[in-house]
Amino acid sequence: MKLLVTGGAGFIGSHFVRYWLKKNPSDRVITLDKLTYAGNLDNLKEVLSSPHHRFVRGDIGHAPTVEKVLAGVDAVINFAAETHVDRSLLDANPFLQTNVQGTYTLINAARTAGVRRFVHVSTDEVYGSVPRGKSLETERLNPTSPYAASKAASDLVVLTQWLTHRYPVMITRCTNNYGPHQHPEKFLPLFITNALEGAPLPLYGRGLNVRNWIHVEDHCEALGRVLRRGRAGEIYNIAGDGEYKNIDVARRILKLMGRPSTLMKFVQDRPGHDLRYAPDTRKIQKELGWRPRVSFERGLVEMVEWYRAHSAWWRAIKAKKNGFQTYYKKQYATRIK
Ligand code: NAD
Ligand code: TYD
Repeated sequence: MKLLVTGGAGFIGSHFVRYWLKKNPSDRVITLDKLTYAGNLDNLKEVLSSPHHRFVRGDIGHAPTVEKVLAGVDAVINFAAETHVDRSLLDANPFLQTNVQGTYTLINAARTAGVRRFVHVSTDEVYGSVPRGKSLETERLNPTSPYAASKAASDLVVLTQWLTHRYPVMITRCTNNYGPHQHPEKFLPLFITNALEGAPLPLYGRGLNVRNWIHVEDHCEALGRVLRRGRAGEIYNIAGDGEYKNIDVARRILKLMGRPSTLMKFVQDRPGHDLRYAPDTRKIQKELGWRPRVSFERGLVEMVEWYRAHSAWWRAIKAKKNGFQTYYKKQYATRIK
C-alpha cells in the first residue's frame, strides 16, 4: 500500500509514520508537512533515509502540491492541523485556514484522485466540556475554543464527502495524547521541561480540570485499525485508561522528578477552559477489538525519562524565537498578572 500521512513531522504523525513502517515494512509512506513551528524533521530522522519513505514539504491547503503527492496513493491519514488551544485564543486564523479550508482541499483532491480510504484524525474537544457521563460518537458537537470549533467544522466537512459522494472517510476523536517528541508548549512536556529547568509550573485556575491521557503509541495502534478495518462514514472515539485532575498530574510529575511542590504556580485560567472531556470508547473496542495498553503511571515515568535524556531536542525548540519564546511571552503576558 502507498500511504500519504499529512502532518507527519508533528508529534502524533511522526509516531504514526514510524509505527506504520515498522508494522508494514513493504508499504510506502509519503509524509506531507508544512513544517510550521510545530513540525520537526528531527522527529522523522529514523525513516528519512528509508527507501520506503519520502518527505515532501508542503501545505495541505495548496491544491497543486496536494494533487501531485496524491499520485498513486491508496489511502490518506490526515494529522495536519494547528493544534494548540492557547494559540487559537490568540489568533484563530491559521486554525481556520489549515484545519477547515486545508482539510477540504486535501479531501477533495483525494476523492478526485480516486484514493480509496481517508482517515481524518480529530479530537474529543469537539464535544465540548462534559462535567458528567461520557460522549458517544453521536453526541451533539459543542466546541468551546476556536481550535475545537475548527476541528468540529473539519469533521463535518469530511463527513459531507461520505454523505454526498459516498467517499469512504473515517473520523477518529481521541483524548489528550502524551509521549516522546511532544512539543513543549503542551501541558505535560511544558511541566516536565520546566521542572527540569527549575522553572514554575503554571497551572490554570485551581488546577481542577480533568483530562483523559492516552499514550501516543496506543493512539497509533487505534488509528492503524481504523485505517485498515474502520467502516466508511463512521466516527470512532479513542481514549486512554484514566482521568486525572491537572493538579494531581503536576504533583505526580514533581514527585517523580524529586522537585518541590512549591514549583506549582496557579495562574489566571484559560478563557472558556473546558472542565472535562470523556469520550465513550465502546464502539472501537467492540468493532475493532482495540483497547489501550500503556497505563498512565508507566507512560508518564517513561516520558519523564525521555525528556531527561533528550534535553537537546526540547531545548532547541524552547530557544526558538518565533516558535516558542514569542508565543510564551504573549501567552503569559495575558495569564500571569
Ligand atoms: P502537532 O502540532 O505536533 O503537529 C501538527 C503537524 O502538522 C506539524 O508537523 C505541522 O508542521 C503540520 N502542519 C500544520 N499545518 C499544516 C499544513 N497546512 N499543511 C501541512 N502540514 C501542516 O500536532 P499533534 O499533537 O501531533 O496532533 C496531530 C493531529 O491529531 C491533529 O489533527 C490534532 O487535532 C489531533 N489530535 C491531537 C491530540 C493531542 O493530544 N495532541 C489529541 C486528539 C487529536
Ligand atoms: P493542553 O496540553 O493545552 O491540552 P487541551 O487543552 O487541549 O486539553 O492542556 C491540558 C490541560 O492542562 C488543560 O486543562 C489546560 C491545562 N494547562 C495548564 O494548566 N497550564 C498550562 O501551561 C497548559 C499548557 C495547560
